[in-house]
Amino acid sequence: MTNSDTPAVRIADLGKTYPGAKVPALEGVSLSVEPGEIVVLLGLSGSGKSTLLRHVNGLETPTVGSVVSLDEKVAELRGRDLRALRGRIGFIFQQFELVGALSVLENVLTGGLSTLRGPRVGVITYPRTLREKALGHLDRVGLLEFAYQRADQLSGGQQQRVAIARALMQDPEILLADEPVASLDPESSSQVMALIREIAAERSLTVICSLHQVDLALSWGDRIVGLRGGRVVLDTRTDGLTREEVMEIYGRVATTTSEIEALEDELAEAREQVRTQEAQRAADARERLTEDFANEEPA
Ligand SMILES: Nc1ncnc2c1ncn2[C@@H]1O[C@H](COP(=O)(O)OP(=O)(O)OP(=O)(O)O)[C@@H](O)[C@H]1O
Ligand SMILES: [Mg+2]
Repeated sequence: MTNSDTPAVRIADLGKTYPGAKVPALEGVSLSVEPGEIVVLLGLSGSGKSTLLRHVNGLETPTVGSVVSLDEKVAELRGRDLRALRGRIGFIFQQFELVGALSVLENVLTGGLSTLRGPRVGVITYPRTLREKALGHLDRVGLLEFAYQRADQLSGGQQQRVAIARALMQDPEILLADEPVASLDPESSSQVMALIREIAAERSLTVICSLHQVDLALSWGDRIVGLRGGRVVLDTRTDGLTREEVMEIYGRVATTTSEIEALEDELAEAREQVRTQEAQRAADARERLTEDFANEEPA
């Protein structure tokens, strides 16, 4: 457990430019997340949400700046130390990332693999204590009766609940969730989001969850961090905040001129191409006509 005085995550002036990229995916991002806080990263596609989440558990390394997670300087960790930190940070993904052909229970058990040596095949190869723990987590997410079904026979919402149970096998202190309900229908979405909050409260988990829906972010998070083009453009608690206020701040930055300019550039280029093609066709036609006249037998 972290000391409750120190943030669970402390990000300072983080910048990330992927190899070969012209523009940074993240720029000047500073952010502290307190233990037990439920933070939503809100942003459009490409705003840097996944990149930011991946820095928290060391799946990406900063180009500049630093990330300290659970008192560990993430970029300085290697091998066993990095694995140990990742063991304290659960991650759930938009596409659930279950092994479809395995049973639900075995999928959950794989969440405990980091505590074991060597590969495991089949539920029975896991220690009894882990099997009991996994069944307990499945019960908690309401899926005990599905334990021995193939994971790919479950609905999307159920699969995401399995992924939550799998993450719990690590006894994480931080839970990162990258658009966990983007593939789900509204009803399953609310169930999954409610479940994450309940479990976070029961276990005093710190949660950082990316979303792109303003309403969901507002109703679910304690705090919203808005990203736009890799920068933090909004960082505020959700108490008393209205949708209009978020839209005003977020919407204003979400429709800045850069996108429109990019579109206009593209359009201008397309128009130029059409003009060139038309000119070429006209020239060809003229040439053919001239040839036709030249080849015409005199009357
Ligand atoms: N592995 C990578 N290599 C190169 N560029 C990347 C890589 N991952 C992301 N990017 C680029 O970095 C920027 C931020 O991407 P990121 O995936 O973090 O955004 P996002 O907010 O998660 O978007 P989405 O909502 O679509 O998931 C984008 O311009 C993206 O194209
Ligand atoms: Mg993403």
